[in-house]
Amino acid sequence: MSFHPKMTYGAAFHKSARDLDPDRDQGPPFEYTAENRARFDRIVQRYPDAQRRSAVLPALYLVQYQQGHITASAMRYVAGLLGITPADVEDVVSFYSMFYTKPVGRFVLQVCRTLSCALNGAERVTEELSAKLGIKPGETDPSGTFTLIEVECLGACDRAPVVMVNDAWHECLTPGDAAKLVDDLKARGEAALSGCHHVVEKK
Ligand code: FES
Repeated sequence: MSFHPKMTYGAAFHKSARDLDPDRDQGPPFEYTAENRARFDRIVQRYPDAQRRSAVLPALYLVQYQQGHITASAMRYVAGLLGITPADVEDVVSFYSMFYTKPVGRFVLQVCRTLSCALNGAERVTEELSAKLGIKPGETDPSGTFTLIEVECLGACDRAPVVMVNDAWHECLTPGDAAKLVDDLKARGEAALSGCHHVVEKK
């Protein structure tokens, strides 16, 4: 089902049976940079040897920070480091919406479509972003700058509707706020993401 009649539930950006197809693009051979390998080594020390696999989430985030998305080659690399199977890693990648299995834009706009946000107008925000960027949910614009995705609960339901841009939350967004956010990102780039973006509740 969908909370919005025009938007098909399940049309998320990075989840499809094709993503789990072993014949899909494997990507080039992957390994961490020396800096990221040092980060990984520090992270994995936080876990007992028998629980080394518990480092899979930060290990995958390091991959994504390094190359923008997580290829099958990178999954195998992480599996090797953690002593688990590539299928174990792929299970994690395919479960969490914050992991991308294909290239994304410089700014990834994730619009929450779960109940609180849906009831507070998330679909209007998505429509505004879609119109402003000229792309549908699940697409990246031709310049590779913006990717628009619909996701499930972002954990700020009391501040709905919520849009996450890269690692920054934007809360209580009206469609007009969303349009201004895009303009700000175009004008100021990453600088538009710094600082506090928590909009005070409107009375
Ligand atoms: S329902 Fe949107 S943040 Fe929880």
